[in-house]
Amino acid sequence: MRLLTAGESHGRGLVTVVDGVPAGLALTAAEIDVDLRRRQLGYGRGARQRIERDAVVILGGVRHGRTTGAPVALQVANRDAVSWERVMSPEPVADPPAAVTRLRPGHADLAGALKYGHEDVRDVIERSSARETAARVAGGAVAKALLRVVGMEVWSETRSIGEVECEPTFDEAAVEASEVRCADPAKSAAMIAAIAAARDAGDTLGGVVALRVSGVIPGLGAVGQWDRRLDGRIAQALLSIQSAKGLQVGDAFAAARERGSAVHDPIGVRDGRFVRERNRAGGLEGGMTNGEDLRTDVAFKPISTLMRPLPSADLRTGAPSPAHVERSDVCVVPAAGVVAEAMLAFVLADALCEKFGCDTVDDLCASVERYRTRLAPIDLRR
Ligand SMILES: Cc1cc2nc3c(=O)[nH]c(=O)nc-3n(C[C@H](O)[C@H](O)[C@H](O)COP(=O)(O)O)c2cc1C
Repeated sequence: MRLLTAGESHGRGLVTVVDGVPAGLALTAAEIDVDLRRRQLGYGRGARQRIERDAVVILGGVRHGRTTGAPVALQVANRDAVSWERVMSPEPVADPPAAVTRLRPGHADLAGALKYGHEDVRDVIERSSARETAARVAGGAVAKALLRVVGMEVWSETRSIGEVECEPTFDEAAVEASEVRCADPAKSAAMIAAIAAARDAGDTLGGVVALRVSGVIPGLGAVGQWDRRLDGRIAQALLSIQSAKGLQVGDAFAAARERGSAVHDPIGVRDGRFVRERNRAGGLEGGMTNGEDLRTDVAFKPISTLMRPLPSADLRTGAPSPAHVERSDVCVVPAAGVVAEAMLAFVLADALCEKFGCDTVDDLCASVERYRTRLAPIDLRR
C-alpha cells in the first residue's frame, strides 16, 4: 500500500491517495469523518480548529460503500481558504501579499527556505504545517477499516504532557471523554492546568503518546532485510509526523538500564498456544510482530510557534528579528495521538497486505484464516 498527501494549510484543501487497498472493503465518508473530528479536538489547540469542521469527500476508489481496488482518493476542504484566496492563489496576483521573512526556531522555516531558495517563508510554512495531518488521518482511517476486518485495533492515549505523567489504561471511553486524551481525571486536570500556564506565559508544551494495537497477527514484517523490519518501518512513519522527535518500542528506554533477565518476556504454553507472561518487548521481536499487543510510544516536542517569540533573524536581510508569530496551537499532544494512530495503522495495513495479498478483502481473509489454522493449535508432542 502507498499513502500520499498533497495540499497546503491555507490552500483550497488537502488530498490523500491510498493506493493498493483491496477491493471489497466496506468504507464510508462518515467512518473517516469520525477520526477527522477526533484529530480536531483537544485542549490546547488554536483558533483554527474552531474554523475548520473537517469532512472528507471520497473522490475515487469506492463505489456504493465498497472499495473497488482502484486507488482511494480523498479530499478534505479547507474552510478557512476563503480568507486566504489572494495569499494562496495558484494563479499570479496583481498585488502579492507581504512575504513572511522572520524565521521561527524549531520550525521548517530556515531549512526549507535554504533548500528551495524561497524568499517568502510562506512557501515552506504551508506544507510543513501539520494541517497536512488531516490528510494522513483520512488515509489512516482507510487502513484502520482494513485492519478491523482481521480483528486488529489501533489505539492511542496521552502518556504525558509537560511534566505531568500518567500510566496509560487504554480505557477507551475515559480517554475519549478527556480533553487531553488521558483516562485519569486528576491527571487530565493537571495536564490542562499545565497547558493553560504555558499559554499564559506565551509558551508551548509537548508530551508523549502511547500507542497500542490489539489482535495483532504474528509474523507481520520480516527478519531478513533491514528495510523490511517492522520496527524500523513503524519508526519511520511515526517520526515523520510533524514535531515527533522520539520513539520507543515496548519498554525500550527503561530496559536499556536493566538486565536481560528482567527485560525479556518468558515464553509459556497454555491450551496448546504460546503465551507470554509479560510484554515488555512491545509485541515486536526480530522486526516481526510476535502476536502480543504492539506497544510503542512517541515523544512530541513543544510547538515551535511561540506567542513570545525567541530571538531569530530575517531571511532576506539577516538582521536580528524576533521569530514570526502566526495563529498557533499551544499543545498538540492529544491530536498527535490520533495522527500517530493513522500512521501506525497504515504501516500495519501495508504489512498485512504484503503477507496476505491485497487484491480482494475476501482473498486476504481466506489467507489469514489458512495461516491461523497453520499456527494453532501448536502440536506439543513434536
Ligand atoms: C497535530 C499537530 C498540530 C501542530 N500545530 C502546530 C502549530 O499550530 N504551530 C506550530 O508551530 N507547529 C505545529 N505543529 C508542529 C509543526 O508542524 C512542526 O514542528 C514543523 O512542521 C517542523 O517539523 P518538525 O518539528 O517535525 O521538525 C503541529 C504538529 C502536529 C502533529
